[in-house]
Amino acid sequence: MALSLRSSSTIPPCLRFGGEFLGLNSSSEPTFRSLSFTSHLRSPSLTSFEGTRLVKPRVVSAVVREQIGLDPMELDISLSHRVNSVKPSKTMAITDQATALAQAGVPVIRLTAGEPDFDTPAPIAEAGINAIREGYTRYTPNAGNMDLRRAICHKLKEENGISYTPNQVLVSNGAKQSIHQALLAICSPRDEVIIPAPFWVSYPEMARLADATPVILPTSLSENFLLDPKLLESKLTEKSRLLILCSPSNPTGSVYPKRLLEEIAQVVAKHPRLLVLSDEIYEHIIYAPATHTSFASLPGMWERTLTVNGFSKAFAMTGWRLGYLAGPKHFVAACGKIQSQFTSGASSISQKAAVAALGMGYAGGEAVSTMVKAFMERRDFLVKSLGELEGVKISEPQGAFYLFLDFSFYYGTDARGFGKIENSESLCRYLLDKGQVALVPGSAFGDDSCIRISYAESLTTLEAAVERIKKAIISLRPAFPV
Ligand SMILES: Cc1ncc(COP(=O)(O)O)c(C=O)c1O
Repeated sequence: MALSLRSSSTIPPCLRFGGEFLGLNSSSEPTFRSLSFTSHLRSPSLTSFEGTRLVKPRVVSAVVREQIGLDPMELDISLSHRVNSVKPSKTMAITDQATALAQAGVPVIRLTAGEPDFDTPAPIAEAGINAIREGYTRYTPNAGNMDLRRAICHKLKEENGISYTPNQVLVSNGAKQSIHQALLAICSPRDEVIIPAPFWVSYPEMARLADATPVILPTSLSENFLLDPKLLESKLTEKSRLLILCSPSNPTGSVYPKRLLEEIAQVVAKHPRLLVLSDEIYEHIIYAPATHTSFASLPGMWERTLTVNGFSKAFAMTGWRLGYLAGPKHFVAACGKIQSQFTSGASSISQKAAVAALGMGYAGGEAVSTMVKAFMERRDFLVKSLGELEGVKISEPQGAFYLFLDFSFYYGTDARGFGKIENSESLCRYLLDKGQVALVPGSAFGDDSCIRISYAESLTTLEAAVERIKKAIISLRPAFPV
């Protein structure tokens, strides 16, 4: 039997079937038309259900048809234009590669993760455990429990100087969901989403998933990767619907000073269609003298700003999956409508834990400030030690737990037994190969000259990583010896 799979749609390059590369059309997009799967895809027997489950589902259905005496069918396996327009996350790809190496026994140091290496503080964990013991294990209101939304309103008023009522807050399964829902609720096809680069990997892809067009505005290391209001002004049109700001930033650690945000606000204020999504998830991980300003607190900006925050980073709660969005009721209700048909309310247990997190004191109290102190020590160590490498450029991060370093000095060099270092991706592959340190290429964040180091790891691990990086980098030779 041969199962014929047919599609005329384009598919992303990562999709290969039966190990066959499907070729490129004239516009360099991979396409496939008709593929035949033969014997090797038929092998699992129907009598072994587990066996059939290991095979791609489309094959199972053909096997089923054959078993019940029907002719094999032609199955259309084309995917939606949405999924075809989205790139898979490069951070996840390199993390998975490094994890696979580690599982195979290679002593890889992984500095790719976007999550703190600390455990969730005890009072938060206790609140989660108590929630289970006390039976808070049922569905919650779609927008989140009232006690949590009240606590969020209190926090936003006290720490950020922005006033919201509970019906202007929507709790979701992580800030990622909050951001995605906001894009889905706000953007129409062909709307433009303005994203300063380097950006968090998901923003452009989320814009594409919402059928909007990401418009990337470059920034430079010499300007601490901060958006130039004049550049912003020059790129805004009537199609511009949403500006995404992230401060402190992933991947650069830059913090927008209040003065610069005020200048940006003046530009934004000239455009009646333009909204702002302010991603403040790293708010508490900030190093003095830098201070955090919420965009919605600036004059005239409350009406057009959606403030996103969450518990993953500052409270070391990545696995609890809890974030929130606050803004004018009209927009928040629209996001809630999407959530109601999507996931419904977030985990009841995590919400009880989040109330405890917000009760730990201003900016997370001592538990959070202890973590921030450790992050700052690590930042100082990395900035100093990697700053000693010839040609590497650094903008000292003011927040978050990432260092975004310009390594482009080494592009074009030759690595013995590896080949040429051409870009951030080949440099990261080289460092993984030679130095056994996993880092994320800057191209994932829209800036190929840099690579990202996450310092959510102990100082001892970072010391070992720096030694390996230095050793690997020093052995790079110019492509053409002089
Ligand atoms: C800038 C930024 N925003 C949002 C998120 C999403 O956080 P979560 O969904 O864990 O709340 C992340 C996570 O890496 C991030 O780096």
